[in-house]
Amino acid sequence: MPHRHANAEVAIHDLTVRYGRHEVLRGLTARVPASAATAVVGPNGSGKSTLLGAIAGVVTPASGSVARHGTGRPAFVVQRSTVADALPITVRQTVAMGRWAHRGPWRRLTRKDRSVVEDTMARLGILDLAERQLGALSGGQRQRALVAQGLAQESDLLLLDEPAAGLDMTARRHIAEALADATARGVTVVHATHHLDDAMRAEHCLLLREGLLVAEGSPAGILRNRHGGCHVSVHAIKDGGEAVGDAGEAIGGLAKDAWDAIF
Ligand SMILES: Nc1ncnc2c1ncn2[C@@H]1O[C@H](COP(=O)(O)OP(=O)(O)OP(=O)(O)O)[C@@H](O)[C@H]1O
Ligand SMILES: [Mg+2]
Repeated sequence: MPHRHANAEVAIHDLTVRYGRHEVLRGLTARVPASAATAVVGPNGSGKSTLLGAIAGVVTPASGSVARHGTGRPAFVVQRSTVADALPITVRQTVAMGRWAHRGPWRRLTRKDRSVVEDTMARLGILDLAERQLGALSGGQRQRALVAQGLAQESDLLLLDEPAAGLDMTARRHIAEALADATARGVTVVHATHHLDDAMRAEHCLLLREGLLVAEGSPAGILRNRHGGCHVSVHAIKDGGEAVGDAGEAIGGLAKDAWDAIF
C-alpha cells in the first residue's frame, strides 16, 4: 500500500491483541505519519480504542509490534472517561495534571506550566469553568477538560479516543482548531472519530472493521474507494479535506454516502 508520508512516527506491524480468547485486532499493519493527524474510523467494536491503547503502550499485544520513532511519553485522552464524582479536583487542577509528565506529580508548577494550562483552557473555551469541580460538570464540559489535559501535556504524540463525542459544534470547533495547531507545531495526532468532517480533516486515515485494517490512506481516497464504481476525482478535495466548487459538492455527498456505508 503506498504511503504519502515517508516519515512514520509510529510503525505498527502484524499487531494482534486478544482479550481472553477474543481476538480484537488481527494482524494489523499500518503507519502513523509524523507531524500529521491520523483518523481511526470504523464501526463500534471494530478495535479503535484497542489500537489507540496499543499505540499508547497500555494494551499489551499478543503478537506483533508497535514501534515509536519518538521517545517522549505519549499523551492519551481516553474515551468517555468516567472520573469519580467525589474526586475533589477542579478543572484547572485537572488540566495542570497534564504538566506532571514534565514536572512530576504534585510538584510546584513553573510559570511556563501555568501559562500552558491557562492557554489550553482558553483554547478549549473552558476558562470560565476553571474553578468548578470536575465531578460536577456536564459530560461535554468534562470531556473538554480532559482533552485540555492531554493538550497541556505537550507531548509529540497525542492520542485521543473520540474527543468530539457528545460535544456541541463550538466545542468541536475548538478541538479541531487545537489539533490543527498541534500538527502545525510538529505534533503527531491520532484520533478515533465517528464524525465524517473530523475524519476528512485528517491527513491520514485508518479504517478498521472487526479488528482488521480494511483501508489506509487519505480520508478522501478511502471514502471514494468505499463507494465502488464511482469515478469522481478526489483532486477537488483540497488539503485539509475542504471541498471546492461543484465537483467538491459532489464529493461531499459522495463522501457522506461512503461514510454511511461504513457504519
Ligand atoms: N477490556 C476488555 N475486555 C474484553 N473485551 C474487550 C475489552 N475492551 C474491548 N473489548 C472488546 O474488543 C472489541 C474492540 O473494542 P474497542 O473498544 O477497541 O472498539 P471500538 O472500535 O473502540 O468501539 P467504539 O466505537 O464503541 O468505541 C469489542 O468487541 C469489545 O467488546
Ligand atoms: Mg472506542
